[in-house]
Amino acid sequence: MPTVSKLLHTVPVSLEGRSYSIQIGSGLLQDAATYAKLPKASSALIVTNSTVAPLYAAQLFEALQTRYPNVQTLILPDGEEFKSWETLNKIFDQLLGSGADRKTTLFALGGGVVGDMTGFAAACYMRGVPFVQVPTTLLAQVDSSVGGKTAINHPLGKNMVGAFYQPELVVCDLAVLKTLPPREMSAGLAEVIKYGPIYDMAFFDWIEANIDGLRAGDEVLLAHAVKRSCEIKAAVVGEDEKEGGIRAILNFGHTFGHAIEAGLGYGAWLHGEGVGCGMVMAAVLSEKLGTVDTAFVQRLTRLIERAGLPTRAPALPLEGCSDVASRYLQLMQVDKKAEAGEIRFITIDPPGRATLRTAPEGMVREVIATCMA
Ligand code: NAD
Ligand code: GLY
Repeated sequence: MPTVSKLLHTVPVSLEGRSYSIQIGSGLLQDAATYAKLPKASSALIVTNSTVAPLYAAQLFEALQTRYPNVQTLILPDGEEFKSWETLNKIFDQLLGSGADRKTTLFALGGGVVGDMTGFAAACYMRGVPFVQVPTTLLAQVDSSVGGKTAINHPLGKNMVGAFYQPELVVCDLAVLKTLPPREMSAGLAEVIKYGPIYDMAFFDWIEANIDGLRAGDEVLLAHAVKRSCEIKAAVVGEDEKEGGIRAILNFGHTFGHAIEAGLGYGAWLHGEGVGCGMVMAAVLSEKLGTVDTAFVQRLTRLIERAGLPTRAPALPLEGCSDVASRYLQLMQVDKKAEAGEIRFITIDPPGRATLRTAPEGMVREVIATCMA
């Protein structure tokens, strides 16, 4: 970790009465100045997990001690399979057991799992306390820490229980990405790539040109990738905070991806891996609907491959279904975008723009068969 912090970019998220900024730089996590404008409180709780705690909890603890008289740390078990009621309750146990009040500020130190759960706990505890996102994975820096979606999983569906609840601040410290395993770096790149087809094909061109450097952890490239991703996410969320419309485009690849994650059992495939493969499937669906050509599908598939992500759909355990496509369809019906039992997909129409739409079941079955072959 560097001893001098460098703030490279500040991206505003503009929401009426709930605006905040995303700070992007190096060494920010351990710099007390990063937190200087947060609301005053007598206590703070760092929520982290057993992998991230030994790496970064002490630095954050030290930085927060200059601002809060009482700082505590709660270490949760690591893994998507722990994004559950039982783990969420540990946060409430800690808050109530330590006499936390309405101003106690929660700090989510970790990837999207810690961020989503801590945000949900902040939304619920005493009907809402302030919280700060300190994302430590690429995926969390470019996506999950921004926009206020918080949730836990239910055995029947991913992120099915949660709340929209915005943080006070997001701190993207690029230095922490140095310890991220390569598989997690690739998972984060899935969400970076996503922003191209749905919003900005010039950014897609840039990712194509720089994918090897991004995978290798080049900090200059990562700074741009995080900045541009956050700018796009902030623009979409600023227009549609609670997903009445356009925000759904951020779910490109997620309908298929969530089915893969849930169908294989949470944790078998990483979220970003499900999204990577899911984007290929959603692109194939777009091709079948006639809104993109084969060349685009091939280009996207190649980039996802180069990012180190799977592009072939896995055969899910049948769990009583007659065939794999039926199992995919059953799982996709639990998706939050489904309405009156009808599954809706984000399709590309044309590259750089996305649409939420339904598709004939036969066509979706064809997509699954094509992508498994
Ligand atoms: P994660 O939180 O499980 O983190 C991945 C792994 O990396 C974990 O083992 C973690 O302990 C480890 N780790 C984290 N930071 C590290 C570091 N700096 N060095 C070494 N190891 C580190 O997974 P994720 O990919 O960050 O997030 C996925 C979750 O985010 C999913 O639950 C998904 O549903 C959610 N998500 C939410 C949103 C949203 O808008 N709220 C958006 C996208 C994804
Ligand atoms: N990751 C999707 C969203 O924030 O809306």
